[in-house]
Formats: sequence, structure tokens, C-alpha cells
Amino acid sequence: MGKTMQDSYNGQGFSKVEEADLKASDMSQALSVYEGTVGPKVIDVTRLYGKSGYFTYDPGFASTASCESAITYIDGEKGVLLHRGYPIEQLAEHGSFIETCYLLLYGELPDKSHLADFDNAIRRHTMVHEQMQVFFRGFRRDAHPMAVMVGVVGALSAFYHDSLDITDPHQRMIASRRMIAKMPTIAAMAYKYSVGQPFVYPRNDLDYASNFLHMCFSVPCEPYEINPVLARAMDRIFILHADHEQNASTSTVRLAGSSGANPFACVAAGIACLWGPAHGGANEAALNMLHQIGDVKNIPEYIARAKDKDDPFRLMGFGHRVYKNHDPRGRIMRETCHAVLDKMDIRDEPLLKIALELERIALSDNYFIEKKLYPNIDFYSGITLRALGFPTSMFTVLFAIARTVGWIAQWNEMIEDPKQRIGRPRQLYIGPAKRDYVPARKRRSMARD
Ligand code: SDX
Repeated sequence: MGKTMQDSYNGQGFSKVEEADLKASDMSQALSVYEGTVGPKVIDVTRLYGKSGYFTYDPGFASTASCESAITYIDGEKGVLLHRGYPIEQLAEHGSFIETCYLLLYGELPDKSHLADFDNAIRRHTMVHEQMQVFFRGFRRDAHPMAVMVGVVGALSAFYHDSLDITDPHQRMIASRRMIAKMPTIAAMAYKYSVGQPFVYPRNDLDYASNFLHMCFSVPCEPYEINPVLARAMDRIFILHADHEQNASTSTVRLAGSSGANPFACVAAGIACLWGPAHGGANEAALNMLHQIGDVKNIPEYIARAKDKDDPFRLMGFGHRVYKNHDPRGRIMRETCHAVLDKMDIRDEPLLKIALELERIALSDNYFIEKKLYPNIDFYSGITLRALGFPTSMFTVLFAIARTVGWIAQWNEMIEDPKQRIGRPRQLYIGPAKRDYVPARKRRSMARD
């Protein structure tokens, strides 16, 4: 087998370029400034507290680099997304999801023989332990599939004891491949359980995306023919969602992994975080929003609500913490959406008409222009997934399938980082100062709620 996971951390590292002077009334610190391959410089505050007694303060970590990484680079102002240096547009147009998985895990595009070996290894890990079927019986049929995914993926560590030693590169490689290979199988089982159909076993003769469509939509009573246009669209959707720097769910996986938790438990934590509507749950929320808008004539009312500070309504599928220009994935997702709708001959899909008009109005409205709120990947992925036949509740599950390789690649990079320590942020404390206990009989009566 080619490069090991260990090789992928090739110590590109960074270089010290200058020092920054930090001064306050009672302290002065010279802090090292580092520069990576590309992107913002960083000020090293690792020892700040020890030397000055000061913490830094950055709720939401908008100005904080939590790690060094060689996997994905995003330039939010320019709308750039690179995986190991390769633009997402080129990977989505010319590559496959399995090839992208290899690139994210090992750092280089594979030659034909390494790609074939890796593809073969993934295909031969797609089955799950037969006993796992029992877990599904415990859920109600109408359970949200993300609830099922959190539970069943976390339970994988109860079955695969031979790949839990995170200090063993070989076991990490086996666990990584098992995660990538088994997520589609578990996701398809969650879908089949929700619609009351029998589970469909994976087929090793099918590629990753085709196998997933087969496990979701084939039934024992008739042949199921893979539509190559839909399979290609599914594969491209997986590529677009594979990794995205230190987003909320990836940071969750890293923080869970920093305690030494096993990879299955870390990915289950990532799935839980991805579920939120501000993050991976946005594709489901975006489609529900289009249903809520219901008709093009209602769009101005919702645009007004999105601008109203007193109204919690937001345009789901718009805006991004990092992209303050277009989301490069959104443009590709839009093209994929149109290809699928053309193939399915549903060009007059009413939700698409609402989406296109909403996008046109939002992009010409000063509020959205000033706040740099552009359609993100989730805006069009929901419509595409619905056209592929998935219920809205499965949209974030598909996001989790794709993002598993990103979580696992970032988890491996963290484990292999010699500077790695358990993550332990501090705080700015605003609670009561020290005070002594007061016996109940001496306490002043408290205001009733
Ligand atoms: C993903 O991090 C990643 O990489 C995530 C992701 C990935 O691949 O992992 O890219 C996947 O999560 C994409 C984002 C999906 N989420 C949504 O589409 C939900 C809708 N978007 C918003 O919730 C919001 O834009 C966030 C959460 C995505 C980003 O939040 P920010 O950058 O913290 O922006 P903000 O909440 O501080 O908003 C800035 C301003 C605010 O107005 P002011 O307080 O400055 O007056 O823009 C407004 C917000 O009110 N605003 C919106 C809006 N998003 C932000 N107004 C209306 N509709 C919106 N969608």
C-alpha cells in the first residue's frame, strides 16, 4: 500500500517571520508571528497566559487558528477552496469522491494502481456487523435519521475493537477506511428503516455513489438500474462536502479526539454538531424554508423578515462564517442541480423557481450585498437531493457521509501532530466573586418567578 497516514504529515510546518509586541498597563510581551504556505499570518499566544496572566478572548473563534493543517485552505474573500492545494472546481469536474478521499487522507492524488487499491479496500469494508441491525429496531420509524446516525455510528466502537488503539498508525488506517466505507451503509439502513423497507446489502461491484443509491432505492422485488447522471451528481455532491477546514463539526471531532477518544466516538460527535441548522442542517432548513415561502409572490415578505433584527428568521442557505464572497461549492452545486433537474425532466420544479427568484432578489438587495450574504452550498444541495429522491430529513445525513473523510483526515493529522495536547479553552469569568455559604434560615426570600 502507498503512503501511510504518518507520511501525510510531512512537516510542511510554518516559518517565524517577525515578533509582535503586545502591551497592556501591567504587561509587555513579544509574541512570535508565523506564516504558513498561504493565508493570514498568526500570532503565537501559546505561552501568553503563562508569561503574562492574560487570556485571549475570541468567542466563536472567528480570529483564532486552532491548529496548523495541510489539508484544506479557504480564502473567504476570494471564494477559494483548495484540498491539498487542488481547487475544488477541478476536483469536482475531473475527479471522483474516492480519489478525493485518498487526496485528503494521504496528501497526494493517487496513481492508477494506488487508486485501484484504495477503492478496492473501501469496497471491501462496506458491510456492517449483522448484529448492528438490532439497533435500528429500537428506534421509532419516524425517528430523525440524524438521531439514528449519532447512535449507530457511536456504537461502531462496540464492534470494531481491533481498530481503537489511536497510537497505532495501522489501526488508525483501518478505522479510517471502515468509517468512510460504512457510513453510506448505515445511512442507507437509516433511510430504509424510516420507510419500512428491508435493508439492502452493499454491492462490491458498484462505485461509492452508485452503491449508496442502490442501497437506498433498490427493492428486492425488482431490478434497480443505476442512472449514471444521478450517480455522477451524487458523487459530485460528496466531493463538494468532503472537507472544509476547521468548521464547527471538524473542530468538534478534533476536540473529542484530543482527549484520546476512539475515532468512531469522535465521528459520532461530529455528526451531532453537523445536525445544527446553522451548520450542516442548513440544507434541510433551506428546503423547509422554500416550502414555507410557498410561492414567488411571498418572497419580498421573507426578505423583509430576514432583515428585521427583531425577527429570528434567516434565509437558510445564505451567508457563511468564512466566505464573504461566493461559496465556490455553491456555484458547482447550482450546475449539478440543473443537470439533475434536466435529467429528471422537472425543470418546472416550483421550489427551484422560488430558489432562483430568491437568489436573484437577495443578490440585488443592498442588505445582502452589504453583509456579503451569498448563497452557500446548502442553498442548492437541498433541491438537488430532493430531485434525487431523498426526503428532506436525509439531507444532513448525506452531508455527514461526505464529511466523514474530512473529519477522519483532520483527526489523523491531529493525532500525528507532535505538538498535539488535549484541547482546553479558558474563559472570561463574569459570575459572582467568592462568597460564603448561608444557612437556609438566614437567606433573604428570593423573588418568585
Ligand atoms: C455550513 O463553517 C463552515 O465551513 C460550514 C460549512 C462546511 O462546509 O462545513 O460551509 C457548511 O454550515 C454552511 C452555512 C450553512 N448555514 C446556513 O445557511 C444558515 C444561515 N446562515 C446564517 O445562520 C449565518 O450566515 C452563518 C451561521 C452561516 C454564519 O454566521 P456568521 O458569519 O457568524 O454571521 P452572523 O451570524 O454574525 O451574521 C452577520 C450579519 C448579521 O447581521 P448584523 O448582526 O451584522 O446586523 O448577517 C446577518 C446577521 O443577522 N445574517 C443573515 C444571514 N446570515 C447572517 N441575515 C439573513 N439571513 C441569513 N442567512
